Order: sequence, then structure tokens, then C-alpha cells
Amino acid sequence: MANLSSEFIGIKSPNPFWLASAPPTDKKYNVERAFEAGWGGVVWKTLGSEGPPVVNVNGPRYGAIWGADRRLLGLNNIELITDRPLEVNLREIKEVKRKWKDRALVISLMVPCDEDSWKDILARIEDTEADGVELNFGCPHGMAERGMGSAVGQVPEYIEMVTRWVKKHSRMPCIVKLTPNITDIRRPAEAAKRGGADAVSLINTINSITSVNLDSFSPEPSIDGKGTHGGYCGPAVKPIALNMVAEIARNPETHGLPISGIGGVTTWRDAAEFMALGAGNVQVCTAAMTYGFKIVQEMISGLSQYLDDKQIALSDLVGRAVPNVTDWQYLNLNYVTKARIDQDACIKCGRCYAACEDTSHQAILMKPGRVFEVNDAECVACNLCVNVCPVDNCITMVELPKGAVDPRTGVKVGDYANWTTHPNNPSVKAAE
Ligand SMILES: Cc1cc2nc3c(=O)[nH]c(=O)nc-3n(C[C@H](O)[C@H](O)[C@H](O)COP(=O)(O)O)c2cc1C
Ligand code: SF4
Ligand code: SF4
Repeated sequence: MANLSSEFIGIKSPNPFWLASAPPTDKKYNVERAFEAGWGGVVWKTLGSEGPPVVNVNGPRYGAIWGADRRLLGLNNIELITDRPLEVNLREIKEVKRKWKDRALVISLMVPCDEDSWKDILARIEDTEADGVELNFGCPHGMAERGMGSAVGQVPEYIEMVTRWVKKHSRMPCIVKLTPNITDIRRPAEAAKRGGADAVSLINTINSITSVNLDSFSPEPSIDGKGTHGGYCGPAVKPIALNMVAEIARNPETHGLPISGIGGVTTWRDAAEFMALGAGNVQVCTAAMTYGFKIVQEMISGLSQYLDDKQIALSDLVGRAVPNVTDWQYLNLNYVTKARIDQDACIKCGRCYAACEDTSHQAILMKPGRVFEVNDAECVACNLCVNVCPVDNCITMVELPKGAVDPRTGVKVGDYANWTTHPNNPSVKAAE
């Protein structure tokens, strides 16, 4: 079994799987059961300032999107930060950390945007012996209207300012959690780095309305006939999160800044993908809420097996795919592929034909007996048929070897060449 022990900004944990700040980490009971199940660490549900705890709605908090098999694909919530008293949370955090010394315990914080509020809360949590803090600049609902959460995370200057306060008033490692509700994720990450953050974590949830009830005309979840935007998470957000992690990892301004990857992690594969794109560890919320704490055991065994098979260490995985993330203009325009249909696997459903005939390049022929064949002279290799085919691996894309003639263009497959030197590129012409 590969060694999964992880060290993230000096915080040690037996594996890189942490629970994200959310209901699974809201109380000692949950966190201890999570640790018993094997989670390497947790980010405690976000704490707010001293005073009356926040008030949540008393109706439904969640909306959802499901696949055809009713598997949960996306979850939307309108929950706020912890609604339990600060002193109860602090007492429980201390008790848990004392008992589970080998696990990572980070405290998520969100307080008003003034230096004294941050100084006060940092002084209160110092005594818990927690391993670090995560600044919640991401919550998109409820708290943002009060000038916190994503209201801070959408303004890089505020991120930098608050991070500086935190580093000034605390010696704890500081992770800045970013909101994806922003045009360019690199800017808040750069601001966090300038402010002295030890790491960034992302993504928090995405502004969303998951559905509208067509009888009551209320967005769901409906609270007495009214709804509001919530925060979207779960498998559906993973592609967005992966891109944002990669953007930060390959940005020269933030290259090397540790990243905790969050968003739709459900299996060890998801985790490995985040890590390959530069995340030093991952955090999980929706998958634990859907399947329970024990899913971490599959993540642990799957990742160990993968590392063993590849004969690489966990640290070798981190960032391994980053050099392969590039801009479109550098993609090899001489990489030519063609779709190939495995006739033995084909169930003759005709989806590939409908897709290619109606919306792509009329490159699939339907022959007598519903035999589907690809016409290489028309196939642009878009890959749509592969994606709509219900049979795994029934259609594959096969690369034409160098020197072969592409029947569509009549041109020989050549060496690597990209858009920057392509004769159709107006800027190439202008430079000549
Ligand atoms: C019900 C719920 C409550 C959440 N509360 C918090 C919170 O208090 N603080 C925070 O930083 N993130 C909170 N999140 C966001 C998660 O920590 C995480 O960033 C997000 O759900 C994406 O991860 P996932 O796709 O694994 O769920 C919450 C998410 C959910 C579903
Ligand atoms: S790859 Fe695109 S163009 Fe080629 S057969 Fe499939 S759908 Fe048609
Ligand atoms: S979509 Fe796949 S299974 Fe259906 S006809 Fe095309 S190749 Fe066959």
C-alpha cells in the first residue's frame, strides 16, 4: 500500500482527504465519526463572531439535480455558517484535537470585515490548538448580503487586506477559501498570496437556482412560496473547480502557492485529478453528505492502488498534469484522429448517427441492417459521437500516423504546428 501521509502547509494528516467546512464538520459527534471512518482531516464548519448565533431557515435548505438513475449530480444549499454558539464549537474543537492528534483540524472563519473582529476571533481560537485557519471568503448567500463571505471574496483588495490582518494577529497557517463567483479566479488567488496566505482552497459553492416549481412558481428549495439563490456543489461542479485549480497552478504569479482542491470530489480518481492539476490535498463535502463518511475508505484504497500501479509517490502526483494545461493557440493542429466504431460492441441505437448527421459533420453512414460506419473523408474528429454513444469504448478516436494523408483535407499529417504559426492566423500575416 502506497504511503498516503500528507503534509499541507506544515499540517500533517494520514491521508490527503479532508472534509470541507460544512454540515459534516459542524460538531464533535460528526467529526469524531469521520475520523473513525478514516478521514485525514477536517475544516470545521465556519465559525462567526461572538454573540447571538446566526439563524437558519426552518424549511428546506437543499435543491438538487439528479441523473436518470436518480444519482445526485448537483446539490444547492441556502444554509449559513454554524448556528451553534461559538463557545460550544471552541470547546468541542479543543476536545477533538486533543484526542485526534494525528488528524488535521483547521477552523473556518467568517467575521465582519474590520480588523478588530478578526483580531478578536483569532484570539479566541488560539487556545483550541487547532492546526490552522481557513478564511471563508466564499459563501455566496445570506452572509454576502451582510458584507461577508463572497462579498469579500469578489474584491481582491479586501482579500489581501483581511489576509494581512489574519497573518498579523495569528501565527497559525492560513488558507484562503475562494469563491468561484468571479470572472477570473487568478485575481483573488494573487491577492491572497500578496496578503501572506499560506495556501488557497477552492472552490466554494456556485450561485445557482436548481429548479422552479411550475405549480407554485417558486424557486426550489421553497420557503413559504419564495426561494433565493443558493450555493451549488457536488459532481456537477467538478469541471469548473478543476479548471480554476489549474488556472492558479499555472499562473506565474501564483505558481507554487499550495492549493487545497474542492468541488465534486466523490472518488479517488476525482481526488487524483485535482492533485495532478496542482492541489496538495482535497476537501470533500457533498459526497460525504450523499454516501456517508465511509466513502473515504474507497478513496484511500483506490489512491494507494493507483500510486502503487504507477510506482510513484503521492508528492510526485501533485502538479503532474500542470505542464500539459496550455492555451488553445498552442494545441497541435497536426494531431489528426478519426472515429472508429467497434461493430461487435455496437447495439445499433443510432445515437451517433443522429448526432453526427443533424449537428456535426454527416460523417456517419447508416448502412442496411443498421450498420453504422464512419466516413473518414467527412470526419473532423470532433468526438461528439463518442460522447453520445451509450456503450463505453464502442467508439474510439484513432490517431493517423505521421505522413498519412487525411482523406478529409488531402493533406499529409505533419509535425507539431500550432495556431501561432498557421497561415490563416491574421497576426502571422501581419508580422510577415
Ligand atoms: C450544506 C452546505 C453547507 C456549507 N457550508 C459551508 C461553510 O459553512 N463554510 C464553507 O467554507 N463552505 C461551506 N460549504 C461549501 C463546502 O465546504 C464546499 O466548498 C462545497 O460544497 C464544494 O465541495 P463539494 O462539491 O465536495 O460539496 C457548504 C456546503 C454545503 C453543501
Ligand atoms: S468524430 Fe464527429 S465528425 Fe467524426 S464521426 Fe464522430 S461526430 Fe461525426
Ligand atoms: S451510438 Fe454507439 S451503440 Fe449506438 S449505434 Fe452508434 S456506435 Fe452503435
